[in-house]
Amino acid sequence: MESPKKFNIAIFASGNGTNAEAIIKYFLGNEQISVCALLSNNPSAKASQRAENLDVPSYIFDKPQFLNGSMILDVLKKAQATHIVLAGFLWLIPDYLINTYPIINIHPSLLPKFGGKGMYGSKIHHAVKEAGEFITGITIHEVNGNFDEGKILFQASIAIETSDSIEQIGNKVHALEYQHYPVVIENWILK
Ligand code: GAR
Repeated sequence: MESPKKFNIAIFASGNGTNAEAIIKYFLGNEQISVCALLSNNPSAKASQRAENLDVPSYIFDKPQFLNGSMILDVLKKAQATHIVLAGFLWLIPDYLINTYPIINIHPSLLPKFGGKGMYGSKIHHAVKEAGEFITGITIHEVNGNFDEGKILFQASIAIETSDSIEQIGNKVHALEYQHYPVVIENWILK
């Protein structure tokens, strides 16, 4: 059996999992950091399948298990997780996780704009377009007990053309995420 890496990332994802896949691929072959597990609250999330396809074990949990914590902590401990990365995970993170692991999140807007409860995925791009914004972007931040309020570690922006559809804005933002999130995670862990 391969000896455990120095740092092990557990990814939490609720949806499609394209960021999770980009992160897993980025750390393949990394000598110090690997992705040890993907956890999801959504049994039909593509994220779990993407992880399994790349030989990362996936685990599904429900709300009571998430709030209670013992199953989640057991999975994280067995996987020897050292850090948690949220990649499109939509539930508020409970204190027992915040107090046990360093946790990082990505949000698809330039926080503090377009953040908070209920603001996720394409809802944000709708709101950005409706507000007539000329730029949008991504924010990578540490996680605290409130939605989208932890210390900001990194932001990057892109221009929005008035002709851009919601889907085009989403694609531009996703491209920024794939480009930057894995690198920011690596620097955050090795700091
Ligand atoms: C990403 O754009 C991520 O920033 C966003 O969900 C999307 C997930 O896409 N996260 C949030 O909105 C958190 N508030 P993916 O499942 O394809 O990685």
